[in-house]
Amino acid sequence: MNFSLTRRHALALPLQALALPEAIAATSSPIPPASIHFGPNFNFGVSSSAYQIEGAVQQDGRGPGIWDVFCHQPGHISKGQNADIACDHYHNMPADVALMAQAGIKNYRFSVSWPRLFPDGNNIPNPQGFAFYDRLVEQLQKHGITPWLCLYHWDLPQALQDKGGWTNRDTSARLGEFAGYVSHHFKDRIAHWMILNEAAVHSMFGYGMGSHAPGLRGKDSWFAALHHLNLGQGLSIQALRANNVPGRIGTVACCEPIRSSTNNQADLAAAQRFDAIWNGSVLKPLFHGAYPEQVQEEFAPLCQTGDLANIHQKIDLLGVNYYNRLHIRADPASPIGANFGPTQEPARFTVMGWPIEPDGIFEILTHIHNTYGKPEIFISENGYATADDSKVSDIDDMGRITFISDHLNFVKQAIDSGVNVSGYFVWSMLDSFEWNDGMKWHFGLVKVDFTTLERTPKRSYFWYADLIRQNAARTLQASNP
Ligand code: FCB
Repeated sequence: MNFSLTRRHALALPLQALALPEAIAATSSPIPPASIHFGPNFNFGVSSSAYQIEGAVQQDGRGPGIWDVFCHQPGHISKGQNADIACDHYHNMPADVALMAQAGIKNYRFSVSWPRLFPDGNNIPNPQGFAFYDRLVEQLQKHGITPWLCLYHWDLPQALQDKGGWTNRDTSARLGEFAGYVSHHFKDRIAHWMILNEAAVHSMFGYGMGSHAPGLRGKDSWFAALHHLNLGQGLSIQALRANNVPGRIGTVACCEPIRSSTNNQADLAAAQRFDAIWNGSVLKPLFHGAYPEQVQEEFAPLCQTGDLANIHQKIDLLGVNYYNRLHIRADPASPIGANFGPTQEPARFTVMGWPIEPDGIFEILTHIHNTYGKPEIFISENGYATADDSKVSDIDDMGRITFISDHLNFVKQAIDSGVNVSGYFVWSMLDSFEWNDGMKWHFGLVKVDFTTLERTPKRSYFWYADLIRQNAARTLQASNP
């Protein structure tokens, strides 16, 4: 099977697509922050995930997770890198929180590491693991930053993977228990709960295409993982409700409009199928209690009585991760007959090969609003990569500023047309470990030197701080004319 492609790379990139981000910056000038005004209740924030930043993988009783194991098997990660140290946020946490506070960032979405909290994937907690997140929440609160806690961002304890991981139905119940335990511990301090990060991405790359941990390939493991993630999410929501969690409960999905790479019948059909899996098989069972018609057959053998009712839970808000539209072509070598393909129209790309399509955020927000009963949405991730060899653009990151401000403009248009969007979180605060690409791509508002661990705020950090300040100032002006 030929699955060298990872994530959302568009195939057959035209050469100029690999130009440095400055080229992009030069062609469109950033919009000054003051032109994007969102009002007093809008939540600007930043997002991260445990494995990508924490490091300290063997410290204070943390157990091995699937990413630890995957990274240490040769050939999986670019340049043989791993996140054993990553940003060493575990030891630099107070300074990292202070950096957020200095930028006036008021909301921080982070994930807790399951292997740090329950090293063996059973129900024996690790007090030192809980103590770390206690300290984190305390620091955030000290600085007036609201914590948005995500329970699961892809780092399954290896002990559970040894029993089949997400291909094993029992893992759904384990997630539910984990959610119950963590929510009991933090419920008085956390007002925003997210259950999963991107079930579609985790199941596709981890259990279908094999480029992410745990590296499984094939259609059966792919669909099983997706169904069990959905089920685990439903059980977790119920566990939080049973604990009378006073905060708001939601989840995070990667939602992106799908386009066919050509107008050929085969590609058009592949794109439809891909859409039914990537977007539909996450949102439809959650909001409507059913899988999309195109893929019902695949899920049928996995769905036991009551599963769809367990998945179909009321949520208070939906986190939408958006980076670009996905361009899809037919590919008989793919377990689902579809794969990433080139864009039909000439496009701009980030250095990573992801198309830059800010209007796609308007399209997906409007689609979710119209299809799934107008849920409250926040953009839980959106961001722009530079490469680790473009030192100057790493700090003077005009490309990132343009990218964020262009997306915010379309978010604003969606709000103006009635979509209920209450926040926008940049991915990410820090340059961090970018999964199978290692440290190759840098998404941070703050540069991290992975040798010295020194943090250097980039131009975008100051720009974002300004945007938040000006939004607050304009809000004040508007309320005291
Ligand atoms: C998202 C992931 C996040 C990060 C960004 C770039 O799909 O949720 O961890 O890797 O992509």
